[in-house]
Amino acid sequence: MTTPIRVAVTGAGGQIGYALLFRIASGAVFGPEQPVALQLLEITPALPSLGGTIMELEDCAFPLLTDVKASDKADVAFGDADWVILVGGLPRKDGMTRADLIRANGPIFTGQGKAINDAAGPNVRVVTVANPCNTNCLIARSHAPKVAADRWFAMTMLDQNRASAQIAMKAGVPVGSVKKVTIWGNHSDTQYPDYKNAVIAGVPATSVITDAAWFTDTFIPTVAKRGGAVIKARGASSAASAANAAIDTVRNLYHPTPADTWFSTAVVSDGSYGVPAGLIYSFPVRSKGEGNWSIVPDVAVDDDARKRLDAGVAELISEREAVKDLLGPAV
Ligand code: NAI
Repeated sequence: MTTPIRVAVTGAGGQIGYALLFRIASGAVFGPEQPVALQLLEITPALPSLGGTIMELEDCAFPLLTDVKASDKADVAFGDADWVILVGGLPRKDGMTRADLIRANGPIFTGQGKAINDAAGPNVRVVTVANPCNTNCLIARSHAPKVAADRWFAMTMLDQNRASAQIAMKAGVPVGSVKKVTIWGNHSDTQYPDYKNAVIAGVPATSVITDAAWFTDTFIPTVAKRGGAVIKARGASSAASAANAAIDTVRNLYHPTPADTWFSTAVVSDGSYGVPAGLIYSFPVRSKGEGNWSIVPDVAVDDDARKRLDAGVAELISEREAVKDLLGPAV
């Protein structure tokens, strides 16, 4: 039998976890031939309810799911993992500031970064979902000197999906025809959802949607504030769409990217597009498969876009400053 891919998921007993685990086990990420094993991390009080989720996973009788383990110890959950999806943490609540969230969730990622360093498999890739995901990823990475810089990702795919959906609805086209949408920067209000390089059925989106003011006055704020709007409406943060975006992120990294598109993920900047090296910043990315990727070069950035890219840089530098006491040796 093909060796299973070991996927560790933290916060597995939470809302996103509940929407995520079943789809990984069904083959939605690695394809219909590839077995998977799930290694779940939760805080001790959440283990009994996670036990119920594991019973449900058993009751689905997924042919590809070879094994499920749950633990409250990070080094057990991350043991030999090929992929680690860091979902565990407090979600943002209505009225909570970004600074509150940074200080609440940041400390989780020091210990989990060390555990990834010590216990994960030699080819591990790490996708951070828990917010503030760029800075949590920075903290975890800083404690994992053994894990190469190109193995770390923070999720901006939900923003990309939100942006693609808004463009498709405005243009009255199927969302699958919208390509080359990029989220630049931070998974926060400063993100720049780049519509200028987006295409609809191969034609620039700005030639199909000629209402320039719609893009700046409606589209950008709608995408950037969509998470808050969902919290207001639902009374809880996005969960199914966030789980779906985590699936998309790993699937996009694992499978080669078609030539006519790219996708967004925050990665460790190599200095591309003037973004200081080492910041966890979202770029347009293409994958060659199995987690090997590169930043798409030469995407047009005009003066207005440059200002927006720089706003993301400034915010990420200030977030890094806010958690400097939590950073380890590998930044
Ligand atoms: P939730 O509260 O339903 O679940 C979080 C789970 O994490 C809980 O079960 C909790 O027990 C667990 N947890 C807390 N501390 C932990 C630790 N140290 N180790 C392991 N598990 C731990 O929250 P939900 O809705 O599942 O969201 C999870 C995270 O994802 C939040 O930080 C949220 O802000 C973030 N998120 C990110 C998005 C993105 O686009 N990047 C979109 C939506 C949510």
